[in-house]
Amino acid sequence: MISFDNVAKKYDDGTYAVKNFSLHINEGELLVLIGPSGSGKTTTLKMINRLIPLTEGYIRIKDKMISDYDIHELRWDIGYVLQQIALFPHMTIEENIAIVPEMKKWEQEEINQRIDELLHMVGLEPETYRKRLPNELSGGQQQRIGVARALAANPPIILMDEPFSALDPLSREKLQDDLIQLQNNIKKTIVFVTHDMSEALKLGDRICLMRDGGIVQTGTPEELLQQPANDFVREFVGIDQSQERMIDIREVVKPAKQEELGKLPIIASRMPINEILSLLGEHEELAVKEIDEIIGIIDRQGIIRILSRQMEGLK
Ligand SMILES: Nc1ncnc2c1ncn2[C@@H]1O[C@H](COP(=O)(O)OP(=O)(O)O)[C@@H](O)[C@H]1O
Ligand SMILES: [Mg+2]
Repeated sequence: MISFDNVAKKYDDGTYAVKNFSLHINEGELLVLIGPSGSGKTTTLKMINRLIPLTEGYIRIKDKMISDYDIHELRWDIGYVLQQIALFPHMTIEENIAIVPEMKKWEQEEINQRIDELLHMVGLEPETYRKRLPNELSGGQQQRIGVARALAANPPIILMDEPFSALDPLSREKLQDDLIQLQNNIKKTIVFVTHDMSEALKLGDRICLMRDGGIVQTGTPEELLQQPANDFVREFVGIDQSQERMIDIREVVKPAKQEELGKLPIIASRMPINEILSLLGEHEELAVKEIDEIIGIIDRQGIIRILSRQMEGLK
């Protein structure tokens, strides 16, 4: 869906914000760009919709060079969500959401329906919120409107630059959960920037770890945890704390039908994390045994949720 081919951004003063950047992002994938401050995440994101012009290499969207797209087409067909969501303060919530559909000259009735649909989608009752102004909403609610606005014209690609990092931990967790839920339904291609590893583990189909404008490692959360390319990755994912440690998986065990259990490998409710991850590389689900009783099953999502939570606790 989005291909970076040896992309670089060199500023006039000679500094490279991004260099040698090659990556293919698949359709329907949620790709997390993560790295320390100044590692080039925002620059990489903004080169996709040409908010920042690249200076070397190529970016293609659906096999077409981004330079060959009409700039409006490119901006309107790519949703964009920022940390401090820039809702227009004097426009109501519905007006804010309607911006791109209006530029695309949708029928008014179609726009109205879409606003209702989107507000429901992000968990805000249209009757209550349509006519409000942005400052009559909490920070978390404003971010939800930001997400709704980015989705408004149903773009196939969404760019999100630290969209939840200004929120309190509870709102952040709720919006992360909602994004996972939403993505299960809408299956957009999402590039999500964060500097928070627990967030990356929780959300990413794949994670691309950047440093000094380049890619250090790209892989699934498990790959980064289990096969870190070097010490930088190991430190960044907090692997020293997590690899050998025993984790208690009881809180993410799900009930299973008796007849399914016979087909699954059985593990104990306390196991070293690396062993569980290895098994989950080969089997979709595992049965969990405690003393003499099978108490249910676990899957990849459950384990990633535990790891993400533990990393949240380590910050
Ligand atoms: N206009 C500019 N001129 C020179 N360097 C810049 C400019 N804008 C950004 N940079 C540099 O590019 C690097 C990457 O920035 P950025 O993409 O914002 O990183 P991140 O989003 O990962 O924090 C930083 O070192 C930053 O100082
Ligand atoms: Mg940034």
